[in-house]
Amino acid sequence: MSSEWYTASAPGKFVVLGEHSVVYGKPAVVLATDRRITCSVRRSKRNTINGDLVDLSRQPHFTYLTRDVGYNMDFLTTSEVPSGSGMGSSAALSAALALAIRSERGECPTEKMLVDEAYGAELYAQGNGSPMDASACVHGGGIAVNVPSEKKELWTISRGERTWRVTDVDVPDLSFVIGNTGIKAPTGPQVEKIRRYKMKNGFASEIIDEMGDVTLEGFDALKKKDKEKLGRLMTNDHKLLSILGVSCNELNKLVNASLPYSYGAKLTGSGGGGCMVALTDKPEKVAEVISSRGGIPYIIKSGSEGARMETSPAMGTPMEIPMGKGE
Ligand code: PMV
Repeated sequence: MSSEWYTASAPGKFVVLGEHSVVYGKPAVVLATDRRITCSVRRSKRNTINGDLVDLSRQPHFTYLTRDVGYNMDFLTTSEVPSGSGMGSSAALSAALALAIRSERGECPTEKMLVDEAYGAELYAQGNGSPMDASACVHGGGIAVNVPSEKKELWTISRGERTWRVTDVDVPDLSFVIGNTGIKAPTGPQVEKIRRYKMKNGFASEIIDEMGDVTLEGFDALKKKDKEKLGRLMTNDHKLLSILGVSCNELNKLVNASLPYSYGAKLTGSGGGGCMVALTDKPEKVAEVISSRGGIPYIIKSGSEGARMETSPAMGTPMEIPMGKGE
């Protein structure tokens, strides 16, 4: 039995515009970050994660991604992406794990195969959602969903009556700062909250439609590098997300503190805690105000490479493994 390590990594992401409404097939624009998750796998006598003996059936991402493996494995994971914070930790973990596991099995998966694996793992763990995060973390750079684009179509994924057409986006030369509230808020319950709201109330559907329009306008502004307009639309999107109930005081505090030094700011990811993102020409100043309000700032280099193989096993601080919906 070979016990060679296979190591892969994938980037986290932030959503410029379109989280939540993308679940209903509306457009979205997402950029990969320079913060990555690294996973190593090797065949083993028992299943372990970061040295601890584990029951894989209690780790939904691992259960799904090893469903046809047929032997035990050691897993090592390290992360620069905070978990449960809207930066795509679950998709980045799934993308890196999928690539490491497939490589260990002698396969050479395409990006589309990895997206199917990572999205499958996310659905298995969360129950609902779009393939936006999986696409961004596998492909890296920038991606857009359901926008009219002359750029290369990467893949189209359908589920029920929804279809997500994913295209490549030129990474804009813009500066973004992320602010982490430090409050962990898993994705599943936030997505579920909007699903219930939408079922009960036609107003929620109107807000979701409006978020789609804002995102399309924002995508156009991004292509034209119109920072004022893009920033304004990001702030509008934050207001719409707040109306849907997925912001919180801590996020609003960091958004409001950033606005005087930014073109615009909004929560990013599923909300309820987690992170916000500001578009700014003064990244150091925005980082400073985020810190002064108790947030953790990350000055982001956007557009990093997607899922890739690495030459040495994961080392450093082991990542906190995200659980499923009930987390
Ligand atoms: O919070 P994250 O990083 O898991 O991002 C979730 C993005 C949503 O649009 C809220 C859900 C989805 O599946 O697209």
